[in-house]
Amino acid sequence: MKKVRIAVLCSGGGTNLQAILDAQAAGKISHGEVVLVVADSLGAFALERAKRCGVETAVFDKKQFPRTEREAAILACLKAHGTELIVLAGFMTVLSADFVKEYEGRILNIHPALLPSFGGVGMYGLHVHEAVLARGVKVTGATVHFVTEECDGGPIIAQKAVRVHAHDTPEKLQQRVMREAEWVIYPKAIEKVCKGLK
Ligand code: GAR
Repeated sequence: MKKVRIAVLCSGGGTNLQAILDAQAAGKISHGEVVLVVADSLGAFALERAKRCGVETAVFDKKQFPRTEREAAILACLKAHGTELIVLAGFMTVLSADFVKEYEGRILNIHPALLPSFGGVGMYGLHVHEAVLARGVKVTGATVHFVTEECDGGPIIAQKAVRVHAHDTPEKLQQRVMREAEWVIYPKAIEKVCKGLK
């Protein structure tokens, strides 16, 4: 069976990428295959994780490429690798409407909160967990969704709730949301979408 060719876009540590690669190695992603990892930062540890798993990598560093050129270069690279599905995993640049149009319905993102709460421009990484704690909500979580022109506004594919604890710090909460929700739901959602595309 021909598998959906997946490219994962990362900016940092790449723990979600790792969860995806582990799920693939365990046979839990059978309808898709990660063929490329793209980073927008030379120092992204995600690149190391990809190399360790024998996955091809490409870097278009933010410091070298202005945004428009970077997007064009990433798009050309994705096409050259025959990418059919783009998976954003801690990719910290909002994609332009033109980019999204090129892969309409074929870009997934994971957000570290229960959208539509705590989403939108400026809500990424640790900032999300800081906002959650500042607002005093008792339940947060993670959301996998399709990417559209609207930042964090696309159709929701999967969500999982995570309890906020009384003495949480943003860092502790981030770790719990990753462990209990993100690393669990993202591989499953990717498999589901790949199955639907085939
Ligand atoms: C994850 O928590 C992910 O949900 C979040 O950044 C972290 C990346 O960690 N993404 C966003 O905030 C996107 N708006 P990772 O590099 O270890 O996967």
